[in-house]
Amino acid sequence: VGQNRIKLLAVDSTNNFLKNLVSKSEPLPEGTVIMADDQFAGRGQQENTWHAEPGKNLTISILLKPKFLSLDKQFLLNMAISIAINKALTFYVANGISIKWPNDIYYFDKKLGGVLIENSVTGNTIKTAVIGIGLNINQQEFSEELKSKATSLHQILQQDVNLDELLVEICSQIESLYLLLKAGNYTFLRKTYVEKLYKFEKPSIYRQNGELFEGTIKGVTDLGLLNVEQNGKIKEYNFKEIEFLNHT
Ligand code: BTN
Repeated sequence: VGQNRIKLLAVDSTNNFLKNLVSKSEPLPEGTVIMADDQFAGRGQQENTWHAEPGKNLTISILLKPKFLSLDKQFLLNMAISIAINKALTFYVANGISIKWPNDIYYFDKKLGGVLIENSVTGNTIKTAVIGIGLNINQQEFSEELKSKATSLHQILQQDVNLDELLVEICSQIESLYLLLKAGNYTFLRKTYVEKLYKFEKPSIYRQNGELFEGTIKGVTDLGLLNVEQNGKIKEYNFKEIEFLNHT
């Protein structure tokens, strides 16, 4: 991962750029990384936009071809990627980094970055996966709206981080975790993912359809559904069904 890198000065979205190349059947090697200094129409999960100050942050997309992964296990790829990013960041920040389900990267109660994986499928397996990663690195300030919810490595460390070095670390961690996934080390991936999961086993307040309830995260399925215990019963939620309330 990361042997073949394409660096762009500006692009709408590195995920769009890579998906376009792939759909034109460009013979791109697995592990190709697209990086952009300025991404002016970055996309997040659930049709959100992803804003990042040009030149200061990591906005990349990585091409993987996990043909070995059947669709009923597809979330294991998300797990591997989130764990890898978490591990890479731990070299810079020893405490407080976690994975907020499904694949946000958190520093205590603030968002440091996120992952947007877009798969193409053949039959029952994944043909190509475009792994989009956005991390707030050297950005020092956030908009009024984001201030209370977002942070960056610069804000945490009070100094700049070398983006190339960080990229190398992330690529090498992704490569290791991807190899574990390929080898079928699912038990290890599931266990490590939940160990790093934000609010795992901690009773917290959630909202579903406008209703607040207290629940406890118990795990995540291979399809990516969140298991939350509520009054002794475990329910499964998908991405749009449940919201975390941080400040209650
Ligand atoms: C999220 O937190 O909702 C996911 C954010 C993912 C952002 C990255 S930046 C590089 C890649 N290209 C995009 O358009 N999005 C991802």
